[in-house]
Amino acid sequence: MSAGGGDTAMAGTVDVGALVARLEGGDWTLGVVGLGYVGLPLAMTAVRAGVDVVGFDVVADRVAALNGGRSHVEDVTDDELAAAVASGARFTADEADLAAVDVIVIAVPSPLGRNRQPDMSFIEAAAATVSRVARPGQLVSLESTTYPGTTEEHLVPAVGAAGLTLDEDVFVAFSPERIDPGNTLQTHEIPKIVGGVSAVSSRVAAAAYGRLVQRVHVVGSARAAELTKLLENTYRSVNIALVNELAQVAHAFDVDIWEVVEAAATKPFGFQAFYPGPGVGGHCIPLDPQYLAWRARELRAPTRFIDLAEDVNLHMPDYVVARVGEMLNAAGKALNGARVLGVGLAYKRNIADDRESPAREVLDRLRRRGAVVGVHDPHVPAARLGADGSEVVADLAALEGWDVAVVLTDHDAVAYDLLAARVPQVLDTRGVYRRRGPVPGNVAAL
Ligand SMILES: NC(=O)c1ccc[n+]([C@@H]2O[C@H](COP(=O)([O-])OP(=O)(O)OC[C@H]3O[C@@H](n4cnc5c(N)ncnc54)[C@H](O)[C@@H]3O)[C@@H](O)[C@H]2O)c1
Repeated sequence: MSAGGGDTAMAGTVDVGALVARLEGGDWTLGVVGLGYVGLPLAMTAVRAGVDVVGFDVVADRVAALNGGRSHVEDVTDDELAAAVASGARFTADEADLAAVDVIVIAVPSPLGRNRQPDMSFIEAAAATVSRVARPGQLVSLESTTYPGTTEEHLVPAVGAAGLTLDEDVFVAFSPERIDPGNTLQTHEIPKIVGGVSAVSSRVAAAAYGRLVQRVHVVGSARAAELTKLLENTYRSVNIALVNELAQVAHAFDVDIWEVVEAAATKPFGFQAFYPGPGVGGHCIPLDPQYLAWRARELRAPTRFIDLAEDVNLHMPDYVVARVGEMLNAAGKALNGARVLGVGLAYKRNIADDRESPAREVLDRLRRRGAVVGVHDPHVPAARLGADGSEVVADLAALEGWDVAVVLTDHDAVAYDLLAARVPQVLDTRGVYRRRGPVPGNVAAL
């Protein structure tokens, strides 16, 4: 049992005005639970804002590496991390260390289970940690993306189990993370949505986040904050699905979808450009709307757009494979036995993250249809590239003997001219050739 647990917490009344003033002033310690793509950049943001940081993670090796100044997150450099550690930030695998912090922010995974239902086990484990370490005067804020109601259902009982009274001893809020890996916008530059489980909790949370980021937007409840994040990512999922469907329609009309989106985007109002691709990937867009749909089903609230968008996006890899098959047939070849090179495995450009990447789905399907599959990605480490049995192609200058290449991720560091020169046919699912200039004759748009 950790220090500050249910047996040591005193019921008492916190002076909210004084707490808010202290949080605004920056003389406090942030505890981050979960040091991944979200938690680590947040910890660095706090260090830059002059706030002390204790980062907690259950993976001891990760903690040791972080204390040694070695970052596993692309958006945080080793130098930046080492400087943070030198200035006092520390990382721990002992949850008891969280009892000493003033604000606990939870950034643990919220994946989908086998049947694409929410896997709440990480949030539940983090809530259990809170129930053991929470003490009077703390703010607990959940940042993991999840369905509306999670903060009230999991964290309010957790602080209760610690023997604390909400809004008297302890404060609870939800604040969605909007970080965009690979984007130059940093955490402190992205407006932060904050919703407490009560007005008092909102006030305390707004003070803490106001110290960390340039702009805080307070909403009336934790549920509204939870739903805001899901609206943002459902909006992306639905619009990407729309343009993915239109890409297939455009091909039927022998029209280049990229030309059409580019033309529509000249309209100064009422249109926002979304671009087609081989599907959606990463930790957010394919998953988050499912959290909402799952909970909405229980409430008998229809989510038809979410369901349709998921259907269209999940089937894009089938469409890509069908197009590769068509291109081979036109050259008198078949998919079975053909040598097909996938270019890009990460789920989006210029990053190494291949979680939930549709590129993997495309390559799997090609393999199942008998193609010999190669893969090239300058960002993803070779061990992960070859994990599914693909032939790893490190250097496009040495390309020989491939029938078709499929551009699945539009990394900047790919030699696209060389690719089009060395492979007889290229299917460009990302519109990268069009963006770079005149499209070579052997390159087809999605
Ligand atoms: N990655 C993104 O771009 C992004 C953007 C916005 C929101 N989110 C959301 O943020 C949350 C975290 O995502 P991520 O990408 O940072 O995940 P991640 O897998 O990169 O990192 C999560 C970390 O939490 C640790 N962890 C797991 N269980 C724990 C526990 N009980 N206690 C302490 N640490 C624990 C893991 O070891 C890991 O280091 C998810 O809900 C995700 O949907 C992610």
